[in-house]
Amino acid sequence: MGGFLGRDVLSVADFSRKDIEAILKTAKKMVPVARGERTSRSLEGRILATLFYEPSTRTRLSFESAMKRLGGDVVGFSSAEGTSVQKGETLADTIRMVESYSDAIVLRHPQEGSARLAAEFTDRPVINAGDGAGQHPTQTLLDLYTIWDERGGIDGAKIALVGDLKYGRTVHSLTYALCSFDVDLTFVAPAGLQMPKEVVERVRAQGLPLAMTEDLAKVVRDLDVLYVTRIQKERFPDPQEYAKVAGTYRVDAGMLRDARKGLIVMHPLPRVDEVAPEVDATPHARYFEQAFNGVPVRMALLSLILGGSA
Ligand code: NCD
Repeated sequence: MGGFLGRDVLSVADFSRKDIEAILKTAKKMVPVARGERTSRSLEGRILATLFYEPSTRTRLSFESAMKRLGGDVVGFSSAEGTSVQKGETLADTIRMVESYSDAIVLRHPQEGSARLAAEFTDRPVINAGDGAGQHPTQTLLDLYTIWDERGGIDGAKIALVGDLKYGRTVHSLTYALCSFDVDLTFVAPAGLQMPKEVVERVRAQGLPLAMTEDLAKVVRDLDVLYVTRIQKERFPDPQEYAKVAGTYRVDAGMLRDARKGLIVMHPLPRVDEVAPEVDATPHARYFEQAFNGVPVRMALLSLILGGSA
C-alpha cells in the first residue's frame, strides 16, 4: 500500500478499484479505534490542517476526530472570517503558509478546481473536502464503505441517486467511483438539475446500465440503495430558480412501503425536507451510520497518506 504515501486526494477518479478496496479494508480495521474502544498513537506528532472556506459539520469534525483518534493533532479554521483571507490573502499564499505548519492539508472551498490549484502550491498532500459543485472524494469513500459494509460488497447493487444532481458534488464523485464497480444506476432529478453531461458520458463509456427520470415513486420498489441529496440552494445563481425546485422530493415511510426489505436509504446530510424524520425509525435508514463511517474512513485515508500503522 506504499502507493498512498504523500498522495493528494483531489478527485475520486484518480483512485482505482484496487485503491478503493484497500481504503475500505483499512477503514474496517479502524472501527474499534474510531469508536474509542481501542487507542492508537500511530500519527503521534503529525499535524493536519483543515481549511474550511465553506460551512461544514460532519466533514470537518470527522477529519478532526479521525486525526485525534490516531494520536495526531489538528490546526485550522472553520470559516475564512477572522483569518487573513479577510485582508485579501490569496489561496496560493494561504496554502504556502499552512504547509509550514502541517503535514497534510484538508481544503473545502466554494470554487470548483480549488483543491487541484492548491496542490500546485505545496508538496504536502492536499485532500479535497469539497470544491464548489465539483467533487467530494472523501464523502464518496465513506458512501462506498457504507454500501460495501452493509451488503458485503458493491457489485450487483441497484442504486438510485436522487435530488440535485447538477450542483451536488457528492453525487458527481460517487458516480465516478461507482464506474469502477458492476452496478445498475438510476439518476432521479427535477428538470434542469440532472447529472452533468460529462458524468453521464463517463457512465455510458463504462457500459453500465443507466436510467434517468424525474419520477422517484416509480423507481423506489426495485432498489438496493436510495441515495438522497439536498437541493444545493447556495449554488443557484437565481433564488427564483431554487424556489421552483425546492421540496420536489420527499422520501417518507409511505413511499418506502413497497421497497425491498434490504433497501438502504443514504444521505450525505445535512437534510432539509427530502427525507422525512419518520424514516429514521424504519429499518431502511442508514444516514447516521453513514455519518459515523466518515471517521474510520478518514482515519484509513490519513493513515495511508501520512504513513501511520493500520
Ligand atoms: C455535503 C457537501 O458538503 O457537499 N455535505 C457533506 O459533506 N456531508 C452535502 C450537502 O451539503 O448537501
